Amino acid sequence: MAKDQILVTGGAGYIGSHTVVELQASDYPVVIVDNFANSDRRVLDRIEAISGVRPEFVEADCTDMTAMRKLFDDFDIKCIINFAADKAVGESVKEPVKYYRNNLVTLMNLLDMMREHGTKGLVFSSSCTVYGEPDENPVAENTPIKRATSPYGNTKQICEEMIADVVASGVGLNAVMLRYFNPIGAHPSGIIGELPNGVPNCLVPFMTQAAIGARDVLSVFGNDYNTPDGYCIRDFIDVVDLAKAHVAAVERVLDDKNSAQVEVFNLGTGKGVSVMELITAFERATGVKVPYKIAPRRNGDVEKVWGDPSKANDILGWRAETPIEETLRNAWNWQLKLRERGII
Ligand code: UD1
Repeated sequence: MAKDQILVTGGAGYIGSHTVVELQASDYPVVIVDNFANSDRRVLDRIEAISGVRPEFVEADCTDMTAMRKLFDDFDIKCIINFAADKAVGESVKEPVKYYRNNLVTLMNLLDMMREHGTKGLVFSSSCTVYGEPDENPVAENTPIKRATSPYGNTKQICEEMIADVVASGVGLNAVMLRYFNPIGAHPSGIIGELPNGVPNCLVPFMTQAAIGARDVLSVFGNDYNTPDGYCIRDFIDVVDLAKAHVAAVERVLDDKNSAQVEVFNLGTGKGVSVMELITAFERATGVKVPYKIAPRRNGDVEKVWGDPSKANDILGWRAETPIEETLRNAWNWQLKLRERGII
């Protein structure tokens, strides 16, 4: 029997594209909706190059209700994975309305369409940002949520609450909210990876661009934090490992046993790694030096956060498996491929 059709919003993006590949590997038919706000239409060819299957594709903005209604009329969607969102913490502080509009209206439209069409399953991309600066690490799913430190973080908190309210209203929705820690790396094929528009905000794309000479030097933001080596600590999770968790989450929300349920899972490795440890691991794994300098702290950065993934391990049967060196080699391989193609 054919498997249920999965709608992946933002499926041409970084985590979305890796997830589509994993869904296809598990024989799920996928429809991507994307407006290429922070991605590239060639990603569709690249997904096909990896999996041998071209996903269905609709070019649309998820805040456009008319386009969403047509999409739901045209396809028999059984489950949604919602990646479509803005995600730059700094930009959200400067342009909060853009973040509230894109992230909240997208989810509201999808929830309305799900009710209209009886779509059962929702997997939502959330973030460790909901924990703010935690009092203790690792954080578990029941660690108290702190007031968000950015509009971006606030949109994730509001979206989580909105989903919980809709599930509680008894429309028959099953939802899983996945709180990602810091996704890094690329597909081992080097065919898809992270390609931020312009100057990267995130550590690993900036680091690989500096290592290849496309940027002068990586600024390491702060070396005077209250951590063992003075650098910020994060939980860096391999993007392919992360993508695989979505397949498990889809299976969970499509399972009738989990009707009218909302569950939250941390997706991390359980290990905190400092920014300097990550740079050193990259140099060890690739033999390539990273030009860096110590710079002042970046406003809004959390000092340390890493997650306890045992709930996802136990209930989703998922765990982070890829050693960090391999993840960093994949990130470097992707960077080399971008150079070969003359992109960076
Ligand atoms: C943030 C959000 C996360 C969000 C992600 C998406 C928080 C706690 N986390 O992650 O929810 O999903 O952005 O973009 O708000 N660094 C440097 N030099 C650089 C870039 C980064 O030293 O050029 C350092 C940062 O200071 C930080 C670490 O590297 O300590 C990771 O930064 P980054 O990759 O930007 O991710 P987060 O800010 O942790």
